Amino acid sequence: MNKPFNDCGVISRYREFLPVSDATPVISLSEGSTPLIHSPKLSAITGGEVYLKYEGLNPTGSFKDRGMTMAISKAAEEGAHTVLCASTGNTSAAAAAYAARAGMKCAVLLPAGRIAGGKMVQAYIYGASVIAIRGNFDDALRLVRELGETGEYAIVNSINPYRIEGQKTAAFEIIEELGDAPDIHILPVGNAGNVTAYWKGYKEFKNLGRSSKLPKMLGVQAAGSAPLYHGAPMENPETVATAIRIGRPASWDGAINAISESGGCFEIVEDSEILAAQKWLASHEGIFAEPASAAPVAALFKCHNQAGKTTRCTTCPFGQTTQGAKVVLTVTGHGLKDPDTAKHAVTEPIETDATAEAVRNALSRLNS
Ligand code: F0G
Repeated sequence: MNKPFNDCGVISRYREFLPVSDATPVISLSEGSTPLIHSPKLSAITGGEVYLKYEGLNPTGSFKDRGMTMAISKAAEEGAHTVLCASTGNTSAAAAAYAARAGMKCAVLLPAGRIAGGKMVQAYIYGASVIAIRGNFDDALRLVRELGETGEYAIVNSINPYRIEGQKTAAFEIIEELGDAPDIHILPVGNAGNVTAYWKGYKEFKNLGRSSKLPKMLGVQAAGSAPLYHGAPMENPETVATAIRIGRPASWDGAINAISESGGCFEIVEDSEILAAQKWLASHEGIFAEPASAAPVAALFKCHNQAGKTTRCTTCPFGQTTQGAKVVLTVTGHGLKDPDTAKHAVTEPIETDATAEAVRNALSRLNS
């Protein structure tokens, strides 16, 4: 029998590795199966073989859709009517979209004034009830935990283990595409669910004999929002990469475990390095990433420049060299989510008369 037209997405592709059964109604928007794009320029710079897992191409524009198809499907199986989450913007977009598809209500708690414009619009257009908290993401997540205690709401933050299950499928895809696990995997870390999920995915496929090795995990935080790097929660995290502006990551233990078991490390990058990497990635490889998603590129540049010179971290995967190494960077979210922050790259356009001559003159002025 032909598969129903909509029978795709990560649950369909990886059903045997996920906690679902015939009783689970699959709520999917055909998430996952995102491209693993080879980066010739990053490869040439680092001497490695560098790939970008472009998660910005998921249905709501971020990797959150992988976990949300699982969380919402399981919530539907359990008969939930309303889902609730705290978010820096991408989880709320995904929750709202998948809840809409499931016919559920969705409430999202967001730090007031600190959500990128595109993400805010997503929560509204998908029909969520939006509450702006006078506080940061950590305050919002504390409230979600408190409100979740009554059983009135199904919580779809990554403290819900089904989210991690869905997100681990990105590691499966990378292994299937490369034929094995990479040597190094670099990703941004905020609430730390994703690094936990990737590590779980890599280990599961290794245990099943589908890969021969495990990558070293490099978790990247913004310098002003780096609790895991410093080993202590932060009260007032601050960064231009609002997606990862988090001082008390919920999956703290999972992140520490992934980094230490893999022999990797945490790294920090300044906001200026994040914005420079965002511009570099777009203008050199044609990939527009939101600021948090450019952090791994900034870290790759930073660590490559320090390779062999650093003594700070003996387990740093770049303590040796990236020469010949297979490196995967997760581009977690699409740049169009946060056009305001990308304005650093925008200049006033030259306005001309509508003649070919005027356009030619303007172009030569731009290129001089
Ligand atoms: N990149 C982007 C674009 C994100 O939106 C997030 C997290 C991360 C990286 C970090 O992933 O939290 O699993 O370590 N965004 C969450 C949200 C917190 O609410 O959308 P993490």
